[in-house]
Amino acid sequence: MNIPALVEAALAARENAYAPYSGFRVGAALLTLDGEIITGVNVENASYGATCCAERNAIFSAMTRGLRQFKAIAVASDLDGPTFPCGICRQVIAEFKIPEIIVSDKYGNYNIYRAEELMPHAFTEF
Ligand code: THU
Repeated sequence: MNIPALVEAALAARENAYAPYSGFRVGAALLTLDGEIITGVNVENASYGATCCAERNAIFSAMTRGLRQFKAIAVASDLDGPTFPCGICRQVIAEFKIPEIIVSDKYGNYNIYRAEELMPHAFTEF
């Protein structure tokens, strides 16, 4: 797995974030089992609750294309420190059993977490 390339893809996608309300740009890059990279950005709305995070947009885009199996997801913003997925995105990451979450700062320095570390005891089935 080429993690620096995945992080770079998240950083590049971030440039397309639609974040006129918060000014907080986020990019995500999802690595499929076949080695393809699917990106996503946060898309905000004047009705704030209609906003969707970068991670979920990447995952839903992959779903739309019929891609269902993933190795990792990288997240980056303009922060000096790492950008961690919000709680809703962690739940969606758990749903699709994405095993590794890579959190990067704006310079491309990253740390890798197991999904289980960020979302222990996730709700997965009923
Ligand atoms: N945001 C993401 O895109 N991903 C996260 O995991 C946290 C938050 C976005 C949503 C909103 O557009 C902005 O960051 C501020 O919350």
